[in-house]
Amino acid sequence: MKDFSHSTGFLTGGASGIGLAMARELGSRGMRVMLADIEAGALAGAEKTLRDEGIDAHGIVLDVGDPEAYARAAEQTLAAFGKVNFLFNNAGVGTLSPAGQTPVRDWQWVVNVNLLGVAYGVELFLPGMQALDEPCHIMNTASLAGHVANAGFGPYNATKFGVVGYSECLRMELAESNVGVSVLCPAWIKTRIAHSHRNHPDAGRANDGTAGMNPLAELIEAEGLPVETLIGRAVDAMADGTFHVFTHADFWPMVEERLDRVREDYGKVR
Ligand code: NAI
Repeated sequence: MKDFSHSTGFLTGGASGIGLAMARELGSRGMRVMLADIEAGALAGAEKTLRDEGIDAHGIVLDVGDPEAYARAAEQTLAAFGKVNFLFNNAGVGTLSPAGQTPVRDWQWVVNVNLLGVAYGVELFLPGMQALDEPCHIMNTASLAGHVANAGFGPYNATKFGVVGYSECLRMELAESNVGVSVLCPAWIKTRIAHSHRNHPDAGRANDGTAGMNPLAELIEAEGLPVETLIGRAVDAMADGTFHVFTHADFWPMVEERLDRVREDYGKVR
């Protein structure tokens, strides 16, 4: 997908960070955008900001981990827009805690948002995209954490590896279709991801600094790339058919080390 004029997009996690930056970039290129987000206040602010910039922006409050609510939001969007060309499965949350000390509710929350939210989006919007005689695109936000594991990131790594695997399936299934697929795999980007526990469904956990990735906030602030750098690469990738959108060249040795371990262990098969 290269030309965004007369196109429409549904972007989850669209009220801030990567989702908002993508809406701004594609909106400024002519896409009519529906921002879907669980944070009503941030959503209203984002919608107004984009409209003030001349973008045809709309907002819908949605928890992507709630399949019934997601179905209603998709129905409303298709009724209002008539079609969706671009699906940005981007809403995501994270936790940081060792195995054996990770509450079941944290697991459920991260899986619901990061993995099932992506699947719901595809199931709800893909048939309409396939019925269109126009270019369409599904972009899933995984992470470098979908290729490399880190201690303490159990639910985050499990779901992000899942999003990478699922995106590979989609790429194969849709190879000959009008629907392109790509997967974002950034390392640190300057957003509020380290404070994602603010959206935890349990009020106690939402106000508990240990529930999210708070300890990473300073690192992300110090070493994170500006969100615009990622968006520029992602939009180029859509145009030239690149599947993985990576950001940090200096993390390649970690990916390579993992691949080497797979190769070494596979070499033991007799
Ligand atoms: P962010 O916290 O700034 O934005 C995430 C957005 O998702 C927020 O607007 C939030 O309200 C929304 N959201 C959270 N739970 C939701 C739910 N249940 N339903 C709907 N919306 C929900 O963080 P950021 O970085 O923009 O996150 C976007 C994606 O990027 C996530 O999937 C994250 O895992 C991924 N990512 C971020 C990296 C970073 O360093 N910032 C690195 C790699 C991946």
